[in-house]
Amino acid sequence: MSKTVIKTFSKKLIAWHEVSGRSGLPWQGNRDPYAVWVSEIMLQQTQVATVLERYPRFMKRFPTVKKLASADIDEVLAEWAGLGYYSRARNLHACAQQVMQEFSGKFPNDPILLEQLKGIGRSTAGAIAAFAFHERAPILDANVKRILARLFAIDGAIQDKAVNDRLWQLANDLLPNQPKSMPVYTQALMDFGATWCTARKPVCMGVEKKCPFAKECQANLSDQVLALPKKVTKAKSPEFDCDMLLARSGNFVLLQKRPSKAIWGGLWSLPESPWRPKTENARKSVPTLKELLTMTLPKENITSLVKSIKELKQGNQIKHIFTHRRLWMQIWEGKTTKTLEFLGEDLKWVPLGQLGRYGLPQPIKVLLLGLSLTRGDDLKN
Ligand code: ADE
Repeated sequence: MSKTVIKTFSKKLIAWHEVSGRSGLPWQGNRDPYAVWVSEIMLQQTQVATVLERYPRFMKRFPTVKKLASADIDEVLAEWAGLGYYSRARNLHACAQQVMQEFSGKFPNDPILLEQLKGIGRSTAGAIAAFAFHERAPILDANVKRILARLFAIDGAIQDKAVNDRLWQLANDLLPNQPKSMPVYTQALMDFGATWCTARKPVCMGVEKKCPFAKECQANLSDQVLALPKKVTKAKSPEFDCDMLLARSGNFVLLQKRPSKAIWGGLWSLPESPWRPKTENARKSVPTLKELLTMTLPKENITSLVKSIKELKQGNQIKHIFTHRRLWMQIWEGKTTKTLEFLGEDLKWVPLGQLGRYGLPQPIKVLLLGLSLTRGDDLKN
């Protein structure tokens, strides 16, 4: 049974794509490895609809690997703002520099070499090699794992190394023989997983459409489609509290550049205290101004601000969910009339109207946009 499936899979999938796949997207049909690479990184954790808007903008701003490599990281982060998972932007920048230095500005076509580059995992390396160089390289992202786990009724946990190895082997066995079919095949696989063989509402469970693999899919034949791939129950991610200082002076807010290795590394945010593990009603008392400034700012900046801020107002508490952490940010608002003294490279008074020039974490951007709107300024400038 599986032998026939393996032989006919790519042809059937490509035929499916002709009728039901996604086509005409701006990154498709492009063999420039730079363009392919940028689109694949952007598509990793961002919805197609958002990428449709942001990909052309990114390419216009950084049209070549050389331009991206020589840009300032702050420009790249500002261009990435709102797309989330900022390590992607830092890795794009570092990878562009690696391509310039180690490969004379030309992306290698071998997926093994592509995988050595910053931010490119095995599956993304396969996608770039397939789209840009027509290499017979498999991909295995979460969607493809789901398709294969169902097609072959693989019921082990997909995190297990042995299961993962088997899935890679199958992904490789299923490739079309013709290298020229690799782009359409790879796109078809992605589209089939994203739109038909979906986690919760696969088309085989409905009545409107007929899955081309209904008769050979082992999960379908044994009525296990929704049970596969096996879900592993994730422990809830730990929760933390922190305090944030929203210091305002008229039209200006005080922003601090975050250390590059931290969460939101390299972005500009509100000065932030160290995180504390969250306990119920963690903060029972309002911090004094001095306590708050000591927690959020470098020592040398504290004295002048303590003198100039008159009172501290408790603002909103914002919850933000990261991949492995949940963070509750308590905003404390302080007004001062003192501003434009030089505070250091990583601490700046920024006019609300110029916030659009800074890469800001999304929840902080939303908070400041609120302030900006009440003032009638335009954050997008
Ligand atoms: N996700 C990752 N790569 C993609 C692509 N090329 N098309 C659609 N979704 C994707």
